[in-house]
Amino acid sequence: MEQTVVLITGCSSGIGLSLAVRLASDPAKMYKVYATMRNLAKKERLLDCVKGLHKDTLDILQLDITDQGQILEVNLLGTISTIQAFLPGMKAQGHGRILVTGSIGGLKGLPFNEVYCASKFAVEGACESLAILLQHFNIHVSLIECGPVNTDFLDNPQRAEPGDCSLQQVDAHTRSLYDTYLQHCGMVFQNAAQDTEDIVKVFLDAIQSSNPAFRYYTNNALLPLSSPKISALDGSQYIRTMSKIIFSTNGKEEQK
Ligand SMILES: NC(=O)c1ccc[n+]([C@@H]2O[C@H](COP(=O)([O-])OP(=O)(O)OC[C@H]3O[C@@H](n4cnc5c(N)ncnc54)[C@H](OP(=O)(O)O)[C@@H]3O)[C@@H](O)[C@H]2O)c1
Repeated sequence: MEQTVVLITGCSSGIGLSLAVRLASDPAKMYKVYATMRNLAKKERLLDCVKGLHKDTLDILQLDITDQGQILEVNLLGTISTIQAFLPGMKAQGHGRILVTGSIGGLKGLPFNEVYCASKFAVEGACESLAILLQHFNIHVSLIECGPVNTDFLDNPQRAEPGDCSLQQVDAHTRSLYDTYLQHCGMVFQNAAQDTEDIVKVFLDAIQSSNPAFRYYTNNALLPLSSPKISALDGSQYIRTMSKIIFSTNGKEEQK
C-alpha cells in the first residue's frame, strides 16, 4: 500500500512529538512522516521515543514556521504560511488533508490570555475560510480542538508568570485575580488534563476518516462551557459564567 505522506510541525515536544512517534511507528508502516522542528539539536527526544523503528517512515527536518517568535506570529501567521506552502502540491495531486491543533482558547475567551486567545480565534477563522474554498480541490481542513494537555506548553516563557515585569507593574487587584486564575488553571489541569496520546487518537480518527469533520473535540468535559455561548448570542451570559467559574474560589464570589 502506498504510504500517506504526513508533515508535522513542532515535533521537539508535546502533541507534535507524540503524533510523530505514533505515525512513524505505525505497525503497518502506513505513514511517511516528515517531522519538523525549529531546532534540530532537540531531535534526540524524538529519536529516543521511536527507538530505531523509524526506517523508511521518519525524516526529521528543520522548519521554523515563522522568523518572529511572538505568539500571534507563530500561531497564526506560521500556521497560514505553512499551509500555503503545501497548497499548490495538494491541489496538483487532487487531494490533501490539513490538520491544525486548535484550542479551547480559540473558541472561548480566557482571562490573562488575550494574545493567545486572539491568535487561536484567528486560526479558527483562517481554517474555516480555507475549508470552504479547499473542498473544491478535495482538500479537507480539520481543527483538533484541545482542552488542557500535559505538555511543556505551560512552561513556555512567553506566557505571563507572576514574576514577569508585566504583572509586577499591574495593580494589586489584577494581581490577586491573576493568582486566583492560576489556582483555577492548576485545578483544571489536575482534574481534566489529557495526555498527548489521547490527542494523538483524535488526530488518527481525523486522518483515517474518509469524510473528516471540520472540528474534533478532544475533551468532552469542556463542551458544557459552550452552552452559555450558544444560548445567549449577545455573549454576556458566557462572560458572567466564566467569571464566576474562574474567580469564585470555593464557590464564594470574589470580594472587592
Ligand atoms: N498543552 C495544552 O494544554 C494545549 C491546549 C490547547 C491547545 N494546545 C495547542 O497545541 C499545540 C502544541 O502545543 P503543545 O501543548 O504540544 O506545546 P509544546 O510541548 O510547548 O510544543 C510546542 C511546539 O511548537 C514548537 N514551536 C514553537 N515555535 C515554533 C516556530 N516558530 N516554528 C516551529 N515550531 C515552533 C516548539 O518547538 P521548540 O521546542 O523549538 O520551542 C514545540 O515543538 C499548540 O498549537 C497549542 O496552542 C495545547
